[in-house]
Amino acid sequence: MTDSGFISRKADHLRIALLPESKSSSGTGLDCIRLEHDSLPDLDLQSIDLRTEVFGVGMGTPFFIAGMTAGHPGADGVNELLARQAALRGWVFGVGSQRREIDTSYQDSGVRLLRERHPELFLVSNLGIAQLVEVARDKKWPILREMLERSGARALAIHLNPIQECVQAEGTPRFQGSWQALTELCERIDLPVVLKETGSGMSRSFLGRIKNLPIRAVDVSGLGGTHWGRVEGLRAGEASRERVLGQTFGDWGIPTSESILNAIEVFSGQGPAIWASGGIGNGLDAAKCVALGAGRVGFAGAALGVALKGEEALEEWMATVEQELRIALFCTQSAGVENLRTGKKWSRV
Ligand SMILES: Cc1cc2nc3c(=O)[nH]c(=O)nc-3n(C[C@H](O)[C@H](O)[C@H](O)COP(=O)(O)O)c2cc1C
Repeated sequence: MTDSGFISRKADHLRIALLPESKSSSGTGLDCIRLEHDSLPDLDLQSIDLRTEVFGVGMGTPFFIAGMTAGHPGADGVNELLARQAALRGWVFGVGSQRREIDTSYQDSGVRLLRERHPELFLVSNLGIAQLVEVARDKKWPILREMLERSGARALAIHLNPIQECVQAEGTPRFQGSWQALTELCERIDLPVVLKETGSGMSRSFLGRIKNLPIRAVDVSGLGGTHWGRVEGLRAGEASRERVLGQTFGDWGIPTSESILNAIEVFSGQGPAIWASGGIGNGLDAAKCVALGAGRVGFAGAALGVALKGEEALEEWMATVEQELRIALFCTQSAGVENLRTGKKWSRV
């Protein structure tokens, strides 16, 4: 793929992903989850503890910004805002696909600068599974290691996006060899590996297959928010086949709530850590994900929409999300995030 192809595609994604038509019309399923209200919590709201750990590192909150963008000029400004606020507030921060650094000799000064400006940032690098297959096939492990070092990454997310690759005109739905590539990746790099979906969720059978891989976390990234079949369909011309495919598969996937419960059932406390994203709009949605069993909750489209309004708006939104989670913890008599995660304080409406 050419550099200019990558840049214009990523710019299209930033523009199209926030359109209402890019959102799946099926919900996350979180509307059907009710948290158990406690009328007399024996707590003070101010003492509620949002602190958590990620791979042994203490963080101020259980939140993350899910990987969206990197490696093109349009990404730098919005990434800088998101990264600065994430570092200040103790949110994990994922960059978008860094495939350009693997495919070409391009070295992403944007990601390196984020790391230099915000040394305390917990930055997660990002690559697609189709590119990982190429890395394994072409023995590009040294290039991958250099990319991770340059980025100052604390973890590497590998994204799974079969529906996007199938609908995208220039997509690469070539996943054969993924299993071998993932196994080799875990042996060849020292960083924690996170396996993430991109808005179509995870099934029980898939989770059963990966349960024993040495990956450290899965982000189930379920149906209910940004939908990548829709985004690629809308990117294509009006009379194109891709436009039709995007419509046909516009609600393909497994809702976020169901995906979390699938992971809880399959891992039964023993597999990788469970992270959740996909259609999360506020701190109450996040609290419901925690109550279902997710240890970390992420925002992509919602965070991007606010970040594009400027830093003040972003700061206010992040503080509100944190306060919403704090209130949900208080009103369920949960002193900290773990109390809600392990307390079975939810029911179906
Ligand atoms: C503009 C945009 C670009 C994205 N690019 C990437 C990417 O490069 N790599 C990745 O793993 N996920 C990418 N995603 C997917 C998100 O990380 C997330 O899994 C998905 O959008 C569902 O979350 P949401 O409903 O909160 O948007 C992108 C999302 C958005 C909105």
